[in-house]
Amino acid sequence: MSAAAWPRVAPEDAHQAVVTVVGGRPLVGRVRVPGDKSVSHRALLLAARAEGISVLRGLSAGDDVRRTAMALTAVGAGIEADGRTPESVRVVGGPARLHEPEGPLDLGNSGTGLRLLAGWLAAFPWFAVLYGDEYLARRPMDRIAVPLRLMGATVDGRGGGRLPPLAIRGGGLTGIDYALPVDSAQVKGAVLLAGLGAHGPTTVRESAPVRAHTEELLALAGARVELGDGGASVTVHPGPLHPIDLTVPGDPSQAAFWLVAGCIVPGSDLTVEGIYVGRARTAFLDALRRMGADLEVTHRDATTADVRVRSGDLVATDVCGAEVPGLIDEIPVLAVAAAHARGVSTFSDAGELAVKETDRIAATTAMVGAFGGRIEPRADGLVVTGGGRAVPADVDSGGDHRIAMAAAVAALGAEGASRVRGWEAVATSYPGFIADLEALQR
Ligand code: S3P
Repeated sequence: MSAAAWPRVAPEDAHQAVVTVVGGRPLVGRVRVPGDKSVSHRALLLAARAEGISVLRGLSAGDDVRRTAMALTAVGAGIEADGRTPESVRVVGGPARLHEPEGPLDLGNSGTGLRLLAGWLAAFPWFAVLYGDEYLARRPMDRIAVPLRLMGATVDGRGGGRLPPLAIRGGGLTGIDYALPVDSAQVKGAVLLAGLGAHGPTTVRESAPVRAHTEELLALAGARVELGDGGASVTVHPGPLHPIDLTVPGDPSQAAFWLVAGCIVPGSDLTVEGIYVGRARTAFLDALRRMGADLEVTHRDATTADVRVRSGDLVATDVCGAEVPGLIDEIPVLAVAAAHARGVSTFSDAGELAVKETDRIAATTAMVGAFGGRIEPRADGLVVTGGGRAVPADVDSGGDHRIAMAAAVAALGAEGASRVRGWEAVATSYPGFIADLEALQR
């Protein structure tokens, strides 16, 4: 079972990995980030449901996506490495080979994996238990449990049905028309995936643009999908899927680390290749442009772009409102950029940060502050006063991959050697980060 070949940190290494990052040296060259994590989860889920053989290339190599692959294997999908890299797989799927899982499904650190899988499983008349690590155990699941119950699934969990482990009994669902109470692509995805097995159509309405990968990939797999209100509502009709052939584009949330590093490290000139630039995923590029970043799109096709960045002075910006869901994962590293910018930057309407892999309002405040940045937490975001002198620091990821990588970027912007502890968290999404950094610093 090739999903086991995904890179991961050995248990004895857990909570021990420390990296030393030396700042002040320019980053030069080209880098290709891992396949988009959000697309990777969804491509596997749809391929497992599709009758026949799908081919997926360039999946995220991180532990999160490996967990989704393992869970799908446990319900009968055949997932085999195609060639030498585990990032390219053949998925043999279809309802006829799928079955109730024999044991609980461990999604590790992945909120996206657990929430999407909950919706996917609800479409089947099975009992399943989903759980994850100590961080995932604290993340709210009522946002998916409520609509799945409205559709007819039984969903229970700790904390009055709000927290993992979640127990799901699915099947016999009826389609709903659901306005998202939180603008979350994970919730939209879970409801649409459940809708594939429901009686009648299922509609999800969003009030701010969230990632559109579920509906894009459903359409690719031949599902009947209708968009309304300029993409703000999506309707899926139940029905079979056909196999997909997909090369996963580069993850913009990972590209953001290199693009901010390229801005703040003097003398840098780097290009990130093949970044996904589809709906609701380019807000961080817009925010960086407003900050005066020297960004240039050097190549573009329908869904991807190569983006070149050269270092230069930044100015403060305000991030708020409908822009926020489109760059929520990039806020920790944008806060690092803001600490290097002239003026006061604000991040508002971003209370969701507090329920990510860690409380990222607190974690970003501590991390940026450790590198000498002037930053204050707010209930719904952050205020960063830029322009101070960055100093090397010794920081801890707190178990959060994006805090670890944002800290590495902050370290690159400070002359001297910094240490980032808890680096093992990075294995969830970007196991090759340090190798890519070493290549750019050479
Ligand atoms: C994701 C959606 C976002 C994002 C997460 C991935 C997805 O979460 O933070 O990393 O793949 O749907 P929300 O849907 O909770 O906003």
